[in-house]
Amino acid sequence: MNYIGSKNKLSSHIISVIKQTVGDLQDKTFCELFAGTGVIASSLKTQVKKIISNDLEFYSYVLNKNYLENNEGFNYFELFDYLENNQSHLNKNFIFSNYSENGIEERLYFSEHNGKKIDTIRSNIEELYLSNKITDNVYYFCLASLLESADKVANTASVYGAYLKKLKRTAQMELRLEPALFDKADCLVEVYNQDCNSLIRLPHISGDILYLDPPYNARQYGANYHLLNTIAKYDDFEPKGKTGLRDYIRSKYCQKKEVFDTLNDLVRNADFKYIFMSYNNEGLLSLEQIKQIFSQYGCYDVIETSYQRFKADNSRTYKDIQTTEYLHILEKK
Ligand SMILES: C[S@@+](CC[C@H](N)C(=O)[O-])C[C@H]1O[C@@H](n2cnc3c(N)ncnc32)[C@H](O)[C@@H]1O
Repeated sequence: MNYIGSKNKLSSHIISVIKQTVGDLQDKTFCELFAGTGVIASSLKTQVKKIISNDLEFYSYVLNKNYLENNEGFNYFELFDYLENNQSHLNKNFIFSNYSENGIEERLYFSEHNGKKIDTIRSNIEELYLSNKITDNVYYFCLASLLESADKVANTASVYGAYLKKLKRTAQMELRLEPALFDKADCLVEVYNQDCNSLIRLPHISGDILYLDPPYNARQYGANYHLLNTIAKYDDFEPKGKTGLRDYIRSKYCQKKEVFDTLNDLVRNADFKYIFMSYNNEGLLSLEQIKQIFSQYGCYDVIETSYQRFKADNSRTYKDIQTTEYLHILEKK
């Protein structure tokens, strides 16, 4: 998934710094509090003893329940055929009506066919789950597969804050339900869907390595990925305005006035020996401010890497932007 702030391209760098700092990972507990697509924890799944994963957004919870908690392969061919083709009595056409071509609201996030297909698949998943025909593990595997597959045919520039005026080429292609495949490993896993400053206060949230990848700027994930939450939850609500937004929790990490104190509170309350945090030179917090927070609690260091990222300019064409990615490291006293 093309996700704002994804660490897909930086994961090997981050993991190698973690290993150089901490040593052997085999008997270590790794915790990721801003998990997003879960790429860092997924890469460590076969290497650590225990993973704790958390994110504020429900779609992220679904992805991490699948990629981290699932360990047994499923024979999904028949299941996916059923999900795509059975006419479920739970189908309320919510995605077609509110977010698709020729729906009542004319919000062009999906083609008519794909909007209806998402409704069919999502309703079938829920019906099988409610009638105990699939386990929790299969439920999250199916949901994650639907989220990833729907995202591939979404008619957006990349996030769901707006849709394009005309169906782009990939949005015209038929949605194919592809399996969200996961690594198999015997590590212990806990996945949460909470505000990280609340979660960190719980006594059992402790261990060796804490990796933080908070939002860097004011773009709220709940607004930018609202449709993924809507597909994952498939609940009834009144979509608001031109983009069909749902209510969402505003993260303090996206608010200039709140972010310093909120990060300070998190680091102070973290019961972990090592804390690593990704941030870049364009974020709400300056390098100096982060240094100020981290150095209060132990031995602090920072590693810099230059990073190429895409940015839309005023004429909506994309150009390469060179940014500096920081990896902050704290060994807590
Ligand atoms: C930069 S992204 C993480 C990207 C992730 N490392 C990846 O590679 O996909 C930041 C994440 O922080 C989450 N987030 C924002 N505020 C949060 C909070 N208060 N508690 C927990 N998660 C939060 C967002 O939902 C988003 O997924």
